[in-house]
Parts: sequence; C-alpha cells; structure tokens
Amino acid sequence: MNKINDDIKIKDNIYWIGSDSRTDHVFEGAFPIPDGISYNSYIIMGSKTVLLDSCDASVVNIFWSNLRHILGGRSLDYFVINHMEPDHGAGITRILETYPDVTIIGNSMVFDMLYNFYSIRPKNKIEVKDGDEVNIDKHKLKFIFATMVHWPEVMFTYDVTEKMLFSADAFGTFKALSGSLFADEIDFDKEYLSEARRYYSNIVGKYGSNVQLVFKKLNGIPIDVICPLHGPIWRKNIEYIFKKYDIWSRYVSEDKGVVIAYVSIYGNTADIVDRLATMLKSNGVRYVVVYDITKTHSSYVVSDVFRFTNIVFAAPTYNSRLHPTMSSLIEHMDIMAVQGKGYSIIENGSWAPQSAKVIENHISAMKNMTKIGKTLTVRSSLHDNQIYDLEKLVDDIVTSL
Ligand code: FEO
Repeated sequence: MNKINDDIKIKDNIYWIGSDSRTDHVFEGAFPIPDGISYNSYIIMGSKTVLLDSCDASVVNIFWSNLRHILGGRSLDYFVINHMEPDHGAGITRILETYPDVTIIGNSMVFDMLYNFYSIRPKNKIEVKDGDEVNIDKHKLKFIFATMVHWPEVMFTYDVTEKMLFSADAFGTFKALSGSLFADEIDFDKEYLSEARRYYSNIVGKYGSNVQLVFKKLNGIPIDVICPLHGPIWRKNIEYIFKKYDIWSRYVSEDKGVVIAYVSIYGNTADIVDRLATMLKSNGVRYVVVYDITKTHSSYVVSDVFRFTNIVFAAPTYNSRLHPTMSSLIEHMDIMAVQGKGYSIIENGSWAPQSAKVIENHISAMKNMTKIGKTLTVRSSLHDNQIYDLEKLVDDIVTSL
C-alpha cells in the first residue's frame, strides 16, 4: 500500500474513500453549510472488494478517482447500499456501468428506490432482511434496519468481524473534515458539536423514536468503530456520541438556558429583547442566546432549541397575524418535532396585537410544550409601567429552569 492508502486506512483492510465538499451553499436545498460537509464512503479490500455507499454529485469526480485508485485495477465485487438519498447516490449509475457484474446488497426498499431514481434493476443482487448476515471472505456483515433514520430504506451494516458499524446518516455532522478523519484527532466539543447538533436536529430530529428503536437493536453489540456517511469516524470514546444521540432522540434538553428568537421591524421589540437578555443574565441564567431570526437561518435556532430548556418568542403583529419570518421559524420547529420546552411570548402590535394568539395556537399544539409566564403585550414600545411585567416574566422563566 502506498502512503495515501495508509492515510485513509481505518482498520486492517478497510478504507475511507470519501471527500469534503465546500462548493454547495446549502444542504438538501435548505440548510446553510458555511463550513462544508463530507460525503463518506468506505471500501473493504479483502479477497473480495466491497464498497459501502457512494457519494454526492458535488464530489463524484474525486470519489471516482479515489475508488479507481484504491482498487488499483481490481474489479468491484460487492456494493452495499445503506441509504438511497441522492447525496450518497451520485456514483451508482457509473459503478454499475463500469462493474456490470457487481453484486448489490440492499433491502427491498433500496431496490425499489434504485429503480425509481435511476431506472436500475441490478443483474446481481442480494436482498437482505433486518438482521440478515452475509459472509464475504473473513468479513461477516450483518444488516440492521434503521428505518426513518433518516429515510425508510436506511440500514446499518455491522461488520461483525471488525466490530465496525457503518451507520448511514446516524452520528453524522455538517462541516468538512479538513483532513481530520477521526473524531479523536479533533476537539469535537469545541469544533464540531454545534454542527453535529444542527445536523441531528434538522435532518434526523423528527425521528427520535426511530433512533431509540435502533439503539435497542444495537444494545449489547460490541462496536469499536462507527463510520457515518458525514463527518468524522469514531474509534474512541464512542459512548460520547451515543450519549448525545440518546439525549437528542429523547428530546431531553442538554442545558438549562433560554433561546430568545425575535423579529423587530423598527427596533422596539429588539429593545425589549435586549432588556430581557440582560435581566436573565443578571439573574444567574448561564446560557442566554439571542437570535434576530431575519438574519440567522432557522436551522441554527432549531438546533439551540433542541439544546436548551426554554424559548422566548418575540414578534410584531403583521397584517392582523404574525410576522412571516416568525411563522416560518415556528413551522420549521414543528416540522422537526421540537417538544418538551418551556416557552414564553412577547407580542407587539401598534393598534391590534395579534401575534401572541397565532404563536400560542401553533406552539400549544406541539408536544409537551409548557407556557412560562404571562404573555407580555406591548403597543409599539415598552413603557415604564410595564417594567414590572417584564421583571415578572424574568422571574417566571428563572423559576422554571
Ligand atoms: Fe446524507 Fe439522508 O442523506
């Protein structure tokens, strides 16, 4: 093996052949990825060659170059497809054209989607069921269905021999690897955790119960290495990322703290929010995060809402309803199944305040959401005789933490 192959070796004869992407501005057409993302793919180079998933269109050329390089003229014998979302499907057609005798391993939904996306009905295939095992030379591969983590066809491939879990989107993160293939080579808490949380909450967040189901299936299975389709590989301190996924998927808040999400058209609502933030801090709240949601993409707000116990919505009335940016944030939270939070409302309206009613209707319909304090209604700007109401709201929020 040459130096490059050693650099990408994970274990024995198993290699990473993924790539960073920094060209796209958004992921899934929705989520900003200012620090890029990696599309991971893996290959087992034994007496048989086994590719596990392919890649996104933005990195298909480098993926193809990596694959050809590592195969070094050998053919591809098996191609395991754990997830059919097209951010891992860009190489599929070319793989089948170049290696027409390759055997594709997938479940029935994978084969349905292969046809739906690419009009492919593979010549050679092994259709697996949940828990099936396939022996390929010394590797015993076990297939563990991970339905809706994050699509219905998703499965994990567990290499029983090497105790390696190829986990599809699970345990992945936004942010390019920039050379650090392994989580133990970086300060994950500092450099990646916030993007891992934003990835989880916005991509997998709705499917917490499915994550819990797959955790039950993994219970008792020894895992040395986790190989996700995005982000660094885990070969040490695996409990760390398991624990995070357990917390997130049970919708348990990680920290006591307050996210204040606001829209302010002329600065008056912003003024109240700034006072509120200062009062919360001076009352000992460690984490207070303030978002002008007209500037910050809602995926960041949703991520912090997953992290913290409380959220305050502060928004003006707009055409007798709610400012559309706040409506959009609340819709986003609902889509991602935010639940189990304390929430408070500050509404502004110069002649007929209505925004609290709209917020209340939406949020109270979400699961396990608890109203904290009374709605603070402001007509245009906060007046001196309302300072007590703001102080009372601060007291109520602090007491709820
Ligand atoms: Fe990375 Fe659900 O695809």
